[in-house]
Amino acid sequence: MGWASWNHFFCDYNDQTIRDQADALVSTGMRDLGYRYVLIQECLTSGREADGSLIVDAKRFPHGMKDLVDYVHARGLKAGTYTDVGEYTCAGKPYQGSYRHEDQDAATFAGWGMDFVEMDYCNRPHETTGRAIYERMAEAIRKTGRPMLFYICSWGNESPWTWAQDTAQLWRTESDISGEKNRVQWDNVVGNFESSARHAVFSAPNSWNDPDMMEVGTPGLTPTEAQTHFSMWAISAAPLWAGNDLAQMDAATRGLYTNAEAIAVDQDPLGAGPVQLREYSAGIEVWMKPLGALGSGVQAVLLVNLASVPAEAAVEWSDLALTGKAQVRDLWAHKDLGEFREAYKTLLPAHGSVLLKVTGEFDWARGTTYEAEWPGNLRAGNASLLPCPECSHGYAVSLRGPANGAQGSSLRFTHIVVPRSGRFYANVVYVYSGEANNTVQVRVNQAQPADVKLPGAIYGSVRIPVDLQQGENSIEFRFTAAGTVDIDRLTVTR
Ligand code: GAL
Repeated sequence: MGWASWNHFFCDYNDQTIRDQADALVSTGMRDLGYRYVLIQECLTSGREADGSLIVDAKRFPHGMKDLVDYVHARGLKAGTYTDVGEYTCAGKPYQGSYRHEDQDAATFAGWGMDFVEMDYCNRPHETTGRAIYERMAEAIRKTGRPMLFYICSWGNESPWTWAQDTAQLWRTESDISGEKNRVQWDNVVGNFESSARHAVFSAPNSWNDPDMMEVGTPGLTPTEAQTHFSMWAISAAPLWAGNDLAQMDAATRGLYTNAEAIAVDQDPLGAGPVQLREYSAGIEVWMKPLGALGSGVQAVLLVNLASVPAEAAVEWSDLALTGKAQVRDLWAHKDLGEFREAYKTLLPAHGSVLLKVTGEFDWARGTTYEAEWPGNLRAGNASLLPCPECSHGYAVSLRGPANGAQGSSLRFTHIVVPRSGRFYANVVYVYSGEANNTVQVRVNQAQPADVKLPGAIYGSVRIPVDLQQGENSIEFRFTAAGTVDIDRLTVTR
């Protein structure tokens, strides 16, 4: 969470602008709600010395970069800088990208005291991939010894959510939310939200999909649309970057950025992304995000009216796998709305929404599904992500036998939280098991592993009894035979 300079200022800013925004993060109370990073994007470095070291634009930063970063740090904030995979950034000459200067630039950023690095995708050299440069930069950052978060801004190119968990902590999923300075269009807000949501299965702690810096408070949105925008980012577990001028914002905009209950949805420790449920009617979308754990019975729900006329919207408890009644809280009104049977229904203005917290009893007879590819799971040995069109969310994890490594490979499903200790059933869905009878070792928590046969199949499933304990559990699949088993998902029922 933080503030980023580009959306409002483009390159029309200087040292004082950044200091003013840092001060505003403090005076508005935003810092204390979690907005910690001040990200200076673009037009920073106007050339290189003969030895290749970066020259900070002296007109814009008359006191140098270190002095400005010290100012930011003195306010209990963190500082972020910007570079590019190319020789020059998106703003073009003379602004410097880090291509072939990764080590030197990372060391410079660390020397300035930076805590965060964004790397953009303009002017990508054709002789290599963006991925190779991002991986080089990540390594260069590691070598500095200074903890700096790394943000891959490839606008969704090269699908970083599928490979960058060891490289970066966040990545852009789409092109810019606006091509215009300090102006935005509603359709782009919706477009960036929906496009980011397509990768929701890869949302986890330190694996964040970024639909772009927010345009809350930017001209072009009605107050209703701005609130929906913030709610969309919150239910996406998106990085919350304010992209407006914090020193000038009105009370309504400030109210949107400082809703602690909406922020808590965004920052929920599970880190789950948004799940789209059945559309209520044309243009009435229903989104949910499990809070705490899958199957906790607690979830955020966003009802959105994308149509241009007021319309009714509803969420049904059966779509949330809840049984009986559920409690509903409105996170913008800060109000408990009471207990509801079966569904919650409301009227939404055009482009309006409600962000709810719904708490009920999870239906363990239906169970909860854990995707193999979720980055919170642990892969070891030769386990690897496998694109799989027929799998849920399009991916499986492939376990390959010892021909590819003495230990074979394993996948540990984590964060399997159940309400009480006892017998549960884990239904494992696998996409491919090449041999007639592949045997995997299944280990629940610290118990002795048990052999389970996965009959040869293109798309099969096996139901395994598992004794789980109240609270958090893990279930590991280890494969040490010759051949391959590809695991799609696990559904845990009682
Ligand atoms: C874009 C990037 C923006 C901003 C801008 C600066 O490519 O997505 O976040 O950094 O470049 O030129």
